[in-house]
Amino acid sequence: MSFRTIEWRDDKVIMIDQTRLPGEEVYCEYADYKSVAEAIRGMVIRGAPAIGVAAAMGVALGAREIIADTYESFSRQMENVCDVMARTRPTAVNLFWAIERMKRVADENRDKPLDQLREILKTEAIRIEQEDLELCKAIGRHGAALIPEGATVLTHCNAGGLATAGYGTALGVIRAAHEAGKKIQVFADETRPWLQGARLTAWELMKDGIPVTLISDNMAGFFMKRGEIACCVVGADRIAANGDTANKIGTYSVAVLAKENNIPFYVAAPTTTLDLSLENGDQIPIEERHSREVTHLHGFPVAPEGIRVRNPAFDVTPARYISAIITEQGVVSGDYVTGLRGLVAP
Ligand code: MRU
Repeated sequence: MSFRTIEWRDDKVIMIDQTRLPGEEVYCEYADYKSVAEAIRGMVIRGAPAIGVAAAMGVALGAREIIADTYESFSRQMENVCDVMARTRPTAVNLFWAIERMKRVADENRDKPLDQLREILKTEAIRIEQEDLELCKAIGRHGAALIPEGATVLTHCNAGGLATAGYGTALGVIRAAHEAGKKIQVFADETRPWLQGARLTAWELMKDGIPVTLISDNMAGFFMKRGEIACCVVGADRIAANGDTANKIGTYSVAVLAKENNIPFYVAAPTTTLDLSLENGDQIPIEERHSREVTHLHGFPVAPEGIRVRNPAFDVTPARYISAIITEQGVVSGDYVTGLRGLVAP
């Protein structure tokens, strides 16, 4: 891949600014945890695994900002840093998973001098980033086998390198199939209102030379009914114990259309996206974002001023619409409760 989504460099966090793609490829530097939290909230970085990496790096930056003489004082201030990070976005569970992992590592090293502890937390955040890249590659290896030779694959939102430490989940499966020499092409839903498909998926696939065609969201059914889509692959923000999956708003409609048209619908996600504490998808918190994302396109109004708006950022696809969940540990299908329980997050 010819871009870096996020990295730790010279004790700063560097992120490609996804709010400015595809027009400009700009990298922003963050030196304090509050600005990392703001970057997550403002979608400079987005996508469940990438948000998790950013949160871990934000916590590591926060640990460097803490002034303390004792672990107790350090730990109290660390709680505050983690709370700020946890309040950024509610749906992607990777954010909370990463924060918990950072807290656990701090606690396990409570006897170390505080300067050493800060270094340990920095190393852990970098490890989370490196692991995520490996998880994505493993998802790709497991998922590529499900993609038929010559297939047209529909995807929704951006579950690519931009949404992870690199390579992607849904796009990881597509990349791996492409790298294996399968002559596949991608149909990318534009993904209103934020246009992750048009702005990000189209951009990163074109950059990597993977054939991609952009369609607006309401065209998916048209192409499915005409037999032009072989399968759908999407990412996930949170998967409940029964396999119900929260992902970008519009994913549910794609899944229902796929079932109606007898097209396999796959979810690709690392085990860090599992939330086995939730019995089903109704318990997943759904973020509602600002109305301006719906009423405006690039600053231009596309609706009358003062119109009432709803803007849920995610929906939940019931497990019965999902043909299989592709994880780094293998492909789960059928009895999701048993299948998912057998997987352990790193
Ligand atoms: O609001 P976003 O852009 O953070 O939503 C992203 C998605 O819904 C992705 O499909 C999901 O996080 C999977 S990313 C590998």
